[in-house]
Amino acid sequence: MLKKALASVLSEKESEDLISAFDQIGDIIIVRIPDTLLPKKKIIGETLLNEVKIARSVYYQASDVEGDFRTRNLEILAGEDNTETEYKEFGCKFIVDVEKAFFSPRLSTERERIANLIQEGEIVTNMFAGVGMFSIMAAKKKKCTVYSLDINPVASKLCEKNIELNKLAGKVISINGDASKIIKEQLENKSDRTLMLLPERSDEFLESAISTTKNGGTIHYYSHIHADKKSEAGKLSEAHYLQVTPVKSEILSSKIVRAVGPRYYQTVVDVKISK
Ligand SMILES: C[S@@+](CC[C@H](N)C(=O)[O-])C[C@H]1O[C@@H](n2cnc3c(N)ncnc32)[C@H](O)[C@@H]1O
Repeated sequence: MLKKALASVLSEKESEDLISAFDQIGDIIIVRIPDTLLPKKKIIGETLLNEVKIARSVYYQASDVEGDFRTRNLEILAGEDNTETEYKEFGCKFIVDVEKAFFSPRLSTERERIANLIQEGEIVTNMFAGVGMFSIMAAKKKKCTVYSLDINPVASKLCEKNIELNKLAGKVISINGDASKIIKEQLENKSDRTLMLLPERSDEFLESAISTTKNGGTIHYYSHIHADKKSEAGKLSEAHYLQVTPVKSEILSSKIVRAVGPRYYQTVVDVKISK
């Protein structure tokens, strides 16, 4: 239907590329547009707004996800200019701000995987928690306590709102600041499970992750890895982890989370540490 609507504006190949490159988050659509199609961006925005029934705003993603807060610049193409929206995933509700705090709908399978792994009664440190997506899903699904850390004040505020919205006060605790500093000051040897979802900087924060994790606890170590063969990406990230870790570690599993470029993957290695 969308392809048909775009047919008056774009060629078939152009509309196929465009459709595979847009995200719908609540009532917001975010579209990446190749440079060759930029002169048509307004009409693309208006067509998407008219055709996607529940869309309220259409934004063009004008930069990559960047900086310490992992945020992106958005430019309004059509509809209301308001980057905050409500998003639902696996029975949880979230207020997200698609410009001021990191959010990706493309991590939902990984969020579900982690929530399933958590055992009743666990304490979890989510070092780079954003608006609390992993933390809230985990605490909604399992009886556990999650420390949800983020350096971006907007992300931490939204995480607080989301804790309230999902009635998880006391089960998810939002703390704003640098994860290393917070761990050093209040969370050493606290967690049964630690999440490191800042794949670009995992090596830099590995010591802090080890420091917050109890002896025998699990770390989910995310990283970005080049692999000529997709089937080798998991094993390559295991080898990288084993090379950089200062502690005895048992690899539990590894996998690709998503492709992030040509022959470039975001991976996760689950490890049990001894210290
Ligand atoms: C890739 S996002 C992941 C967010 C979240 N886990 C999710 O999946 O929605 C990385 C997050 O790390 C936060 N961050 C960056 N440096 C940090 C630091 N030193 N301490 C705590 N959080 C940090 C950013 O603000 C961003 O929200």
